[in-house]
Amino acid sequence: MPISSASEMLRRATEEGYAIGAFNVTSFVQMLAVVEAATAKRAPVIIQTSVTPTLFFGPSTIAAACRAFADDAPVPVCLHLDHCTDVELCKRCVDAGYTNIMIDGSQLDFDCNIAVTREIVEYCHSAGDVSVEGELGTVSGVEDQVAVVEDEAALCPVDKAVEFVERSGVDVFAPAIGTAHGVYTTPDPKIDFRRLEEIVQLLARREPRTPVVIHGGTGLGADIVRRLVGLGGSKFNVSTDLKHVLIDTTADYLAQHRESYNPGKLDSAVKEAHVARIGEWIELLGSTGRA
Ligand code: 13P
Repeated sequence: MPISSASEMLRRATEEGYAIGAFNVTSFVQMLAVVEAATAKRAPVIIQTSVTPTLFFGPSTIAAACRAFADDAPVPVCLHLDHCTDVELCKRCVDAGYTNIMIDGSQLDFDCNIAVTREIVEYCHSAGDVSVEGELGTVSGVEDQVAVVEDEAALCPVDKAVEFVERSGVDVFAPAIGTAHGVYTTPDPKIDFRRLEEIVQLLARREPRTPVVIHGGTGLGADIVRRLVGLGGSKFNVSTDLKHVLIDTTADYLAQHRESYNPGKLDSAVKEAHVARIGEWIELLGSTGRA
């Protein structure tokens, strides 16, 4: 299927009460694994690149590869630029063929965040079927270039959520609710479920209903994930977990095959490990069979 924006797939997920996995990748083996896992589970899926891998390969190369993988797949695939603070890079990615753009103005003041997000919304919507994700409040931890320490993390103010969505025009909304990027330093992270619930309820009064994103998927227990999805999170971001799969599988493979110089076998081992882990996420998020 041709790659598509996040709007339609997330609208359905929001209405039907499941979440779509949004998986950050840094390599083409990982990208292929996301598509294969989604195909095996008949699930819509979102592939994400943060700024560093986007610049490493170049937006056009990433978009071309993703398009090729997606064209051959029987499930909807969206290509998302994650946590980008650079307006010009957002626009380059749109021009290259990305289909969902996250302009991250979360570290700006409210009005500046709206202004920068609005600029990208106008650019994306005039380019065609390209949706935009905006963030209000800051998700703690480190996601690529965007680092926020936990103490500074400000949660999304409930009373500003609708105003942000309306004035910025975003298609997809990421409120900071206490989840964090990276590995949680505590087994019991302080997640503000009530805040999420209130924000989802307020957004549900508007048409069309704006889908809500949960950042910081790695390390959350299955019960917490199910609760966040049950409360209305319909895009669920997973990054660090796949970095661990990539590094751990590579290290294990090399430990066992140090004398072998067959990169194809290493790639296969890495791909299969990702297909298995991504498949588990898809099951947990409830998107199996939704494509
Ligand atoms: P994790 O690295 O905690 O999985 O967070 C991913 C994320 O939110 C990407 O935007």
